[in-house]
Amino acid sequence: MTGPLLTIDKVTVRFGGLTALQDVSLQVAPGAIHAVIGPNGAGKSTLLNVISGIYPVGGGSVALCGERIDGLAPHAILRRGIARTFQNTELFGEMSALENVMVGLDRHHACGPFAAAIHSAAWRRSEEAARAEARRLLALVGLADAENAAAAALPFGKQRRLEIARALATRPRLLLLDEPAAGLRALEVEALNRILLDLRAEQGLTIVVIDHVMALVMAISDRITVLNFGTRIAEGPPDEVRRSPQVIKAYMGERASHALGS
Ligand SMILES: Nc1ncnc2c1ncn2[C@@H]1O[C@H](COP(=O)(O)OP(=O)(O)OP(=O)(O)O)[C@@H](O)[C@H]1O
Ligand SMILES: [Mg+2]
Repeated sequence: MTGPLLTIDKVTVRFGGLTALQDVSLQVAPGAIHAVIGPNGAGKSTLLNVISGIYPVGGGSVALCGERIDGLAPHAILRRGIARTFQNTELFGEMSALENVMVGLDRHHACGPFAAAIHSAAWRRSEEAARAEARRLLALVGLADAENAAAAALPFGKQRRLEIARALATRPRLLLLDEPAAGLRALEVEALNRILLDLRAEQGLTIVVIDHVMALVMAISDRITVLNFGTRIAEGPPDEVRRSPQVIKAYMGERASHALGS
């Protein structure tokens, strides 16, 4: 494929009188790790919600491999190959890590509810295959040894990784992550960075990641888009963005040089 995987073209989103995004454009190349950063309320989550079909666009368009996807329902966008995690972890706390991933698997029950009810051989085979696939995904995010733990009992950093495994269960080509490193300690951020780089290298995933944690963003992104008050104020490779006077100014309230990891 030569063109961008994801094309966001002049997207505007309004909530009543508030403009959350104004004419925002960005392109994500296949195989890229593309970060979106910006101060609180900049419109980052709104952007992910638009891509995944949760919010409609008020103007502009979103395309995957050149085909418009804005206007499609979230489940249709998921089927096109875009999966996501949420800013607030949304796991089934009582269920095991393995079960949480199995829930995400897109299983077209080869055998219907009747077969399941009598636990037919075919049902058991499809159940076993799902279990094996869920185990594979847990291993990809470094949770091979946690499959039986209740999701709620896992340390926070592992819960975030479990969410990623569940998102991977739909076999996406584009993974959207909303602040996966928020609240993580330095070592956990490093582990997450390695996992995301491996997912790109080994699974050919393209990743759009929102984060305030510069140790993640600066270390693994190919490109960074910076939003402020709903508009794009900068875009480029990490080193360029970090030095941009406009970006430093936008982060002033957060002690710019510290916030930008320099
Ligand atoms: N469903 C909604 N209804 C009304 N206003 C909304 C809605 N979703 C977002 N907003 C507003 O849009 C603006 C952008 O919010 P958004 O959540 O996209 O910011 P963000 O960059 O993700 O911020 P944070 O870093 O705090 O997560 C904010 O002013 C927010 O209050
Ligand atoms: Mg947000």
